[in-house]
Amino acid sequence: MIIKKHTNLRGEISVPGDKSISHRSIMFGAISKGITHVEGFLPGADCISTIECFRSMGVDILREGDKVRVEGKGLHGLKAPEHVLDTGNSGTTTRLISGILSGQDFESSLNGDESIRKRPMGRIITPLKMMGADISGSGENGMYAPLTIKPSHLTGIDYNSPVASAQVKSAVLLAGLYADGKTSVTEPSLSRNHTELMLKGFGADVISDGLTAVICPPEELYAQDIQVPGDISSAAYFIAAGLIVPGSEVLIRNVGINPTRAGIIEVCKAMGGSISLLNERSAGGEPAGDILVKYSSLTGTVVEGDMIPTLIDEIPIIAVMAAFAKGRTVIKDAAELKVKESNRIDTVCEGLKAMGCDITPTDDGMIIEGGKMLHGASINSYLDHRIAMSFAIAALASGECDIENAECVNISYPNFYDDLARLAGN
Ligand code: S3P
Repeated sequence: MIIKKHTNLRGEISVPGDKSISHRSIMFGAISKGITHVEGFLPGADCISTIECFRSMGVDILREGDKVRVEGKGLHGLKAPEHVLDTGNSGTTTRLISGILSGQDFESSLNGDESIRKRPMGRIITPLKMMGADISGSGENGMYAPLTIKPSHLTGIDYNSPVASAQVKSAVLLAGLYADGKTSVTEPSLSRNHTELMLKGFGADVISDGLTAVICPPEELYAQDIQVPGDISSAAYFIAAGLIVPGSEVLIRNVGINPTRAGIIEVCKAMGGSISLLNERSAGGEPAGDILVKYSSLTGTVVEGDMIPTLIDEIPIIAVMAAFAKGRTVIKDAAELKVKESNRIDTVCEGLKAMGCDITPTDDGMIIEGGKMLHGASINSYLDHRIAMSFAIAALASGECDIENAECVNISYPNFYDDLARLAGN
């Protein structure tokens, strides 16, 4: 895919539904009593993988565009799948579903694509085993997918997670739905809390206290109507484009701005970006608003600490903004970048270096000396949707780029290039 340099991006855009919330709406709907209606669902490949996994376990799920109807089976109504469940490229599907499967009275196996088989599953296998789950993996030390899960009796635990990961937290809380006694998860920094918020809506007894979330097993969960706000991780590309493409002014409508997700807004402000939140409201229990950005002269910043989990998926596009900002940007405490769909420390540094940026990878992030004139380049996306989208924006602001395997945006934002072209007036 060739992306050319552009100026003056002007207009409004609505990004597709939040990926994390879309996954959870299907999963929690499937194990509830009654019919869950979802609006604003993200029809990206990852969330479709979640739908297919639950269809394989006997759940009737009807999808028309971004509207989904899930006929819930109750906590104990899933059926044994006849095949290995295919989680595709989706870490969220793989890890969250493992928590649910640990509590079922049937055996199941999970597998995904080449990237999923390289992503660490020890982080869920360890706590699920502590709860009594009979879960085993493959590869080195049995810590990778494919995973096999056999029926077992679960007992609640108090888990101190070594990583701030919503996928780990959610897997343990979901297993907690099926455990004897209460289950708690404490994280080193707070990760996204969609599971806690949505499970409460489905009637579960979940208490969040600082870095700890506690769940007590319910008799049943009950169906909900869910409105999914736009995904701030998808909005991030247009936020960045508005800030770094000269002459731009972009309004992004209906974006989820849950504080556990909205770190990028703080970073843009710290870089001197003109960014404002309009029309703040609540969309289905999640805060949402419109985001207005205007072209700005950016300066470097430091991104670190507790803020990292609130913007972990936005770091590739933050690095792109930093390349266009005056001065140094340091990104640290973000070693998690190495275990995403690609090793994002390596893939971001490789791409930005190819464009002429002065960028140095570190063990837990990167250092960017911004403000140098960048040029077009050939960019390998490594099949990572967030790398493809980040470099499409870098190309707009600098020079023609050829993005390899650009269609991987399908994972989280199938119409990304069309929306970008529309905003560019093409
Ligand atoms: C997600 C959690 C994050 C994030 C991923 C979606 C979720 O992963 O990077 O894109 O929906 O729970 P980790 O839990 O591994 O940090």
